[in-house]
Amino acid sequence: MLLDIRNLIVELPVGRELRRIVADVSLGIGEGESLALVGESGSGKSMTTKAITRTLPAGARVSGEVRFDGRLVGAMSERELESYRREQIGLIYQDPRAHINPVRRIEDFLLEGLLLFDTRPRAVLRQKVADLLQEVGIADPDRCLGSYPHQLSGGMLQRVAIAAALSTQPRLLLADESTTALDVTTQAEVALLLKQLQTRRGLSVLFITHDLDLAAQICDRTAVMYAGRIVEMQPSRALYAAPAHPYTKGLLQSRPSVDRRYERLPTLPGSPTPAYEAPAGCPFAPRCTERMPICSAEVPPLKSHGVAELACHLGAAARGGN
Ligand SMILES: Nc1ncnc2c1ncn2[C@@H]1O[C@H](COP(=O)(O)OP(=O)(O)OP(=O)(O)O)[C@@H](O)[C@H]1O
Ligand SMILES: [Mg+2]
Repeated sequence: MLLDIRNLIVELPVGRELRRIVADVSLGIGEGESLALVGESGSGKSMTTKAITRTLPAGARVSGEVRFDGRLVGAMSERELESYRREQIGLIYQDPRAHINPVRRIEDFLLEGLLLFDTRPRAVLRQKVADLLQEVGIADPDRCLGSYPHQLSGGMLQRVAIAAALSTQPRLLLADESTTALDVTTQAEVALLLKQLQTRRGLSVLFITHDLDLAAQICDRTAVMYAGRIVEMQPSRALYAAPAHPYTKGLLQSRPSVDRRYERLPTLPGSPTPAYEAPAGCPFAPRCTERMPICSAEVPPLKSHGVAELACHLGAAARGGN
């Protein structure tokens, strides 16, 4: 496993209390593999990615293990951490406009980081970033390099941000809802680009989204998070065709679809719960239509059922008995 997270718990200080945001997350991403992390707002997706880069808010308390290529991220020195972040991880942000200096040309933006660590002449590095822009689907890299951010569309700028993330040849791309600030067509294009990069460069990808359809289209596997826990993880196609957890079933039924017509969209009853407000037992129990007495008493552990991993007391029964 390139990335291996075991029993991650993240608690953040709010006033005098520590709030549990990530309650128990274990997941692995192999070399060249992509995993989608899906879940409603507040389920702990972003804090899980911040634990990977060790960029959690000040005062955060972390337990469990995050390993990258066998190395414990929690045990890295500041110096190791800095080169780990720069060389191994490519971050793709939700809103590229917020991360690209508006008064500098794209060429300067793309070269500034590289020039610090790469001693080759500027012209060589400029050619390198022009090639990267071409690789991410920008037809006229020279023109793009000479532009200012406001002269580019949101989709173009997202491609520039992806080129920037690729410039240090990372092994893992972390895309935290990089697509939600974009319109749906651009969103699908960018997601497709991430998939191409994964295949072409053998990159590992962690793709965070609310959109199960998009997750299934571009990622090998999908993990579903609820109240700071992974409740189900399966190969994306299998999850899509035969969701096992009642929460995943609810998510799939409540999403709008162009192939299906409803008088009203079915919605999941109740509202999502953050981990620190989760009741005893299974955090989804209060909203679950298949709830049993044990569900309010014991947290179901994440267990393997063939290719699926599932945290549900229904166990194999949730998968139709197989
Ligand atoms: N600095 C902070 N201190 C304390 N609590 C925080 C802090 N930042 C976020 N939170 C809390 O963490 C929870 C959100 O976790 P996280 O950002 O990982 O969710 P998410 O799954 O990424 O949600 P979204 O889909 O909205 O991005 C919320 O309950 C929020 O109030
Ligand atoms: Mg988030």
